[in-house]
Amino acid sequence: MAVTINTLREYKQKGEAFSALTSYDSTFAQIVSEAGVDVILIGDSLGMVLQGHDSTLPVTMDQMVYHVSSVVKGNRGSLIMADMPFMTYGTVDAALENAAELMRAGAHMVKLEGTAWMKDTIHALSERGVPVCAHLGLTPQFVNKFGGYKVQGRDEKHAELMIEHACELVAAGADVILLECVPAPLAARITQAVQAPVIGIGAGADTDGQVLVVHDMLGITTGRKPRFVKNFLAESDSVQGAIEAYVNAVRNRTFPAEEHTFKA
Ligand code: KIV
Repeated sequence: MAVTINTLREYKQKGEAFSALTSYDSTFAQIVSEAGVDVILIGDSLGMVLQGHDSTLPVTMDQMVYHVSSVVKGNRGSLIMADMPFMTYGTVDAALENAAELMRAGAHMVKLEGTAWMKDTIHALSERGVPVCAHLGLTPQFVNKFGGYKVQGRDEKHAELMIEHACELVAAGADVILLECVPAPLAARITQAVQAPVIGIGAGADTDGQVLVVHDMLGITTGRKPRFVKNFLAESDSVQGAIEAYVNAVRNRTFPAEEHTFKA
């Protein structure tokens, strides 16, 4: 059965953890969905992973549409979430037009990075039938404002603000929250505070779901390995086996472990 937003809500209600992975092409999409991954994210991380940029900012709408259409062909029932690239949702009108393109290409949900300023945009998208994931915490499109890729919400003031933003964005219509690089206790508080399913990356074991960049979890990323990444291929003899091991580890909540988690 195909995974829908209702499936993710049911997982949250039952307290069952679900898995997500990035894919950017048809072959990976097929392997990932056949391994039982619930959500495929066509992340704008492709700007770094595939294109070699040092940030996600150069990724364009045309490139995202190309990758979404490729993933759709390989998908075997996972929910397809597509990133809206940098500055393609700066106004409500731009967001509606660009989200429509991603949905026409076959996405089931779009993901936007930001905070309270996205309320009107999320409301407008949601009212018009576009499911939205709101990405909070370390939002890579803000790398120049953050001054680097840094854990967010470490002090109580910023933690409270993030909880407030998550609640406001869900009230505005966000169907899913994604938290990147936030201390595990804060991610747990946000997961409790909102009704929508919460997916974490570098956010500890208490979120409703987990996501990783597929290249990272197969150990084929060059450069420094982030703390929250585990190389599942190191303990498996095939890509398929590694992805199945990830799905099981997320389901059993054995991943992420303490060593993949930011405490504060
Ligand atoms: O672009 C991406 O792949 C992402 C994940 C890191 C969550 O946003």
